[in-house]
Formats: sequence, structure tokens, C-alpha cells
Amino acid sequence: MLKGKNIILGITGSIAAYKAAYLIRALVKKGAEVQVVITPAGKEFITPLTLSTLSRKPVISEFFSNRDGTWNSHVDLGLWADAMLVAPASVSTIGKMANGIADNMLITTYLSCKAPVFVAPAMDLDMFAHPATQQNIERLRAFGNHIIEPGVGELASELIGKGRMEEPEVIVKVLEDFFSVKQPLEKKRILITAGPTYEKIDPVRFIGNYSSGKMGFALAEACTRQGAEVTLVAGPVAMSVTHPFIRRIDVESAEEMFQVATRQFPGMDAAILCAAVADYRPSQPSGEKIKREQQEEMLLKLVPNPDIAASLGALKQPGQLLVGFALETNNELENARGKLQRKNLDLIVLNSLREEGAGFQGDTNKITLIDKEGNVTAFPLKNKQEVAGDIINKLATLL
Ligand code: CTP
Repeated sequence: MLKGKNIILGITGSIAAYKAAYLIRALVKKGAEVQVVITPAGKEFITPLTLSTLSRKPVISEFFSNRDGTWNSHVDLGLWADAMLVAPASVSTIGKMANGIADNMLITTYLSCKAPVFVAPAMDLDMFAHPATQQNIERLRAFGNHIIEPGVGELASELIGKGRMEEPEVIVKVLEDFFSVKQPLEKKRILITAGPTYEKIDPVRFIGNYSSGKMGFALAEACTRQGAEVTLVAGPVAMSVTHPFIRRIDVESAEEMFQVATRQFPGMDAAILCAAVADYRPSQPSGEKIKREQQEEMLLKLVPNPDIAASLGALKQPGQLLVGFALETNNELENARGKLQRKNLDLIVLNSLREEGAGFQGDTNKITLIDKEGNVTAFPLKNKQEVAGDIINKLATLL
């Protein structure tokens, strides 16, 4: 399970740092590539020579080499990793991780890391039990990090209690178990539309809407983390993709989004239509900037845009799934059910603009999922990352 996996091993200032040597040996034996990143305090407990010999790679500790100025890119390292393991994790490193205090290479690497992170605390029993430590550990859990609880036993202080770093063989087993679980969306190809569309009035003006793209981008990230190959068709948004495996295609208008989406859809297992597509566009966008003095009154003639969701609904083949969104202000359930049927969707995500914290621009959303069978599940207000998780959990069960 660990063969060929790239693992960053973060080592910090704790007496348990000696166990990192056993850890590296076990990981390398299982076929993993191990890159050690050690904090300055960690080097007081175990020498880089021991670690580089066992891992067969130079140990990284500083932002750049004093000898020749070579820069160690924490961003590249973060993207290289299949997993990051901080073992032993001292109380100070846990605190810095929980609060984003990026004063050493290990913390910057952690903050750049897209892969799952495992943390094996090691400290004295009272330090471990202190509310500051417990709160920081809770924060790491809330970030989605996996905490490998310390064991109970005799500590370096000769006190007996909870704080001993878990044994290397147990830590290796945790990683093996993690990689042996099949990801729910493994190898699934998913098309996602996101953001608004802009419909040109003239070279400098457009009709658009307030969609930020946050929900669609959160969905793209969440699907990729669960093993899917994502094609993200994005309208004009100020968002960047962080996962290297997301294929992003930028479009501007509904017509462009329609062209790309209908071309991509046949190879997909599912499409999630999260974009706030403009329903109408100016019938004749002006080639020149429209001048104010030309007219007393301004009338724009609009013509309908293609309905991307409905078009994909018509193209849909057995085995393909279609997820749409419905943003409603009244008769929410009824309208959403109508859209589900009309557009031949399998699942619809309803947001009501009447709910505080739901809808465009914000970081939170409150959704209700309605499937083709008529099952209705309402979720509480959550941040958009968590909402994305709820949507794709449901999608995974349907797939
Ligand atoms: N949608 C689409 N193409 C359009 C309009 C909407 O793909 N031209 C998709 C949206 O991405 C969303 C779903 O259809 O998944 C519902 O969008 P919404 O704007 O709520 O529905 P409309 O069909 O436009 O209905 P109305 O504006 O009348 O509420």
C-alpha cells in the first residue's frame, strides 16, 4: 500500500525524534519515498546525517541553503507529497500548525500541503492535557488532519501518563490502512460548471451576476481529493484552483460554457452544474462602445441562452449522473422538484435565498438535497467546503 507513495516526514524537537529513524526505515522498507523536513529544534535531538542516510535523501531544514543559496520550495514539496506525517509533533509545532505561524520550513510545507496530514503528538502528560494543546489538536482535526493519539506509558520526565508518541510500527499501519481504503470517487470523471457568465452588451459592458464561483471550486477540490478526475468549466471568477489534478477551462459567456460542457459531457461519469448561467443575452452586442448621447432611453433586446443543464439532461446516457442547483426565493421545494424533472437531473441542490448565510458570494451555504426518487435531505448551515463534502457523499452513493 505504501509502495511508490511520497511521504513528507516532519520531525520536531522532542525526545521521541529518535523513533523517527525507525519510522523512516519501516517506510522505506515498504517502498515509500521519504523526504525529511526537520525543525531547528528537531536537529538537537537527532542528526540530519542519520536521517539522510536512512531516507536516502538530503534532509530539508532551512528555506534556502547557506552554502549555495538554493531555495527549498515548500510549495513543490507540498504538491509532491501523497501524505505528510509529523512525527514526533511537539506541542510548539502543533500550536504553530493550528495557528498558521510559518516560521520554519516544516510549517510552510504543512500550509502548502494538499495531501492528507497525519500528526503524532509527543510530549509530557501535563502539556498534552493542557487546554491550549487540546484546543490546538481539535483545530487540526477540524482542518481534516488525522491525529495519531499518543500512547500511555513512561515518559522522558519519568512520569507515567498519556503523551508518548505512538510506536513507529503502529504509525506505519495507520498510513497503510489509510491508503488501502478505496476512495469513493476513484477514477470517476466529473464535469463541473462554476461561477457566473458574462453576456456582452458592447466591448466594455456586460450582463452578469454575483456568483463568486466558491461553491463550484469547493466541489472541484473535494471531488479531486476523493480520487475523481475533474474538468472545471469556469465563468469569469477571481478564484484559483489549488489542486494540480483539476483541468480548468475558462469561458466567459453562457454560449461558450454550453459549447465546452456539451463537448466534454460524453466522456464523463457525472456533471455538477453549479454555474449561475445568465438565462438571456443581448441579441446584438454592439461592436463599438455604446455612446450615451446617442439615445434618450436605452432598450436592450435579450434573447434566451441555451439551458446547459437541460441540454446535458437530453444527452445523458445510462450510467451518467447529472446534478443541478436551484437557487430559489419562494416555493422552494416545488420549484426545485420542477427543475429536477424538467432538466432530467438525478439530484438537485436547493439553496433558498430566504435562508441567512446561503447563496452567492458568502463562504457558507445551507442546502437541501432532493434526488430523483423524491428523497429530501436538509442540512444545517455549513461552510462551502463542508457543503461540497455533503453533495459529493451523496453523489458517490448514486454513482
Ligand atoms: N442552468 C444551466 N444553464 C442555464 C440556466 C441554468 O445549466 N442556461 C443550470 C444551473 O447551473 C443550475 C440549474 O440549471 O444547476 C438551475 O438553474 P436556475 O437558474 O435556478 O434555473 P433556471 O432554469 O434558469 O430557472 P429560473 O431562472 O426560472 O429559476
